[in-house]
Amino acid sequence: MTDSRCPVRRVVAIGPVGFGALLALASLSIAAESSSTAASTSAAPTTVTFARDVAPIFQEKCQECHHVGSMAPMSLVTYEETRPWAKAIRQRVILRQMPPWHIDPSVGVQKFKNDMSLSTEQINTIVRWVDSGAPLGDPKDMPAAKEWPAPNEWKAAKELGQPDLVIKADPYTMPAHHQDVWWRPTSAVPITEPRWVRAVEVRPTTAGARKITHHAVAYLVQDDPDSAAPGASNDLGGRGYLMEWAIGKGYDLYRPDTGKLLMPGAQISWDLHIHAVGEEIRDDVEVGIWLYPKGQEPKYRTYLTGFQALRGFESSTGSHDRAGRNIDIPPNSVVATDNYTVLKHAAILENIQPHMHLRGKAMSVEAILPDGTVQTISYVDHFNFNWMINYIYADDAAPVLPKGTTIHVTAWYDNTHANPNNPDPDQWVGFGDRTVDEMGHAWMNVTYISDEDYNAWAAKHHPKLEANASSRP
Ligand code: HEC
Repeated sequence: MTDSRCPVRRVVAIGPVGFGALLALASLSIAAESSSTAASTSAAPTTVTFARDVAPIFQEKCQECHHVGSMAPMSLVTYEETRPWAKAIRQRVILRQMPPWHIDPSVGVQKFKNDMSLSTEQINTIVRWVDSGAPLGDPKDMPAAKEWPAPNEWKAAKELGQPDLVIKADPYTMPAHHQDVWWRPTSAVPITEPRWVRAVEVRPTTAGARKITHHAVAYLVQDDPDSAAPGASNDLGGRGYLMEWAIGKGYDLYRPDTGKLLMPGAQISWDLHIHAVGEEIRDDVEVGIWLYPKGQEPKYRTYLTGFQALRGFESSTGSHDRAGRNIDIPPNSVVATDNYTVLKHAAILENIQPHMHLRGKAMSVEAILPDGTVQTISYVDHFNFNWMINYIYADDAAPVLPKGTTIHVTAWYDNTHANPNNPDPDQWVGFGDRTVDEMGHAWMNVTYISDEDYNAWAAKHHPKLEANASSRP
């Protein structure tokens, strides 16, 4: 199967924060500052220091990317390394651009398996530290340095042992200086009979590869008529994904009795976003797959589904099979699109990963229950094309929805100067594969369950669910 949905062949500048973004988020900044002022007047008059207060936050929330040998441009481990960045750190954390976690913390599901965001309290601590001159404090307060796992260790091995299958992508050698590359090799999955997958982990294999790999997506391409998700628009259903990796992400371990099916002849189609870092590095990426024992078939299957935010239109050939292509963004404008998809079975939504291109600004997903109540599932309020973040709901927070629920996806596009990723606000933008064209869908792993399972769940949880649901005219 050839699918070149997003063949990106242009430079994506990862530059300083756009002025527009600053303006748009100024209210957040004011809120953070006023609460920090309040905190500093009411709390004991101790100074916030790097050694005692800030270093532990950076260990927990920044250093996985910001240590020597990882992907970020600078290390935030020692005081000497961090001090020159104090102003930039203050700005990035207030705008919630760093850590890269772009979901609105005030609406929708708020418990995630991979949350790397800062709490408001942590943001206030960092801001107070910078505002009081970014002092080191007493070096004796410094927490013990964090150990980073060797690059060739599977994170899931602690829990699951070594993977049953390890499949490598053909490596790409990135020159010292080059545009970003989207490398898309294909690898065969070496199985001779259908097997069920229990867990998946994708990783760059070497320290060098970790530096240059921005994100890696492993799509699963196989001849499997059941792989099209029931009840979803089928335009994007043909190529399910096995796993998406971006730094900071661990592994996907499916909930008990749930899995993905691998068929003989399956192939992995890679989509690796690689960036140059000033030295020539070979990008080695591989996927580890943990299987259910032979013959054990999990009860539930998860399907990757692209829930559309675009409405379809009749193509010139009169065919209706390319739904979800209706998008028209005039120059210097902000535009919203939306669409609805009905779930034909009861379902659990496991994650959301908004998919838009350079003009992408925000995406919301709502569930309209059969009784008419509307639940906000997630709102990614400051989408950034450079960060394809996959927000994975915690097991006990993943929305469980009855048959007949309508999923409503809305996407916003910013084709103005306010969008720092916008290559040219004077262009008219339509649907297309290139990043200068647009798309809009929410990738969600959907686990379909029986009505009995849904009813059992609802009997336990419905009071809470009803309390969270909001009515809408
Ligand atoms: C998931 C990896 C990741 C995490 C976690 C992360 N960063 Fe970053 N950070 C990056 C990358 C990559 C860049 C450069 C690209 C960009 O700006 O998006 C960056 C850029 C920055 C910059 C801008 C540097 C410049 O050139 O101006 C600052 C400041 C920053 N990070 C601070 C932080 C702080 C503080 C934290 C923790 C509270 C943090 N980051 C967490 C990966 C990360």
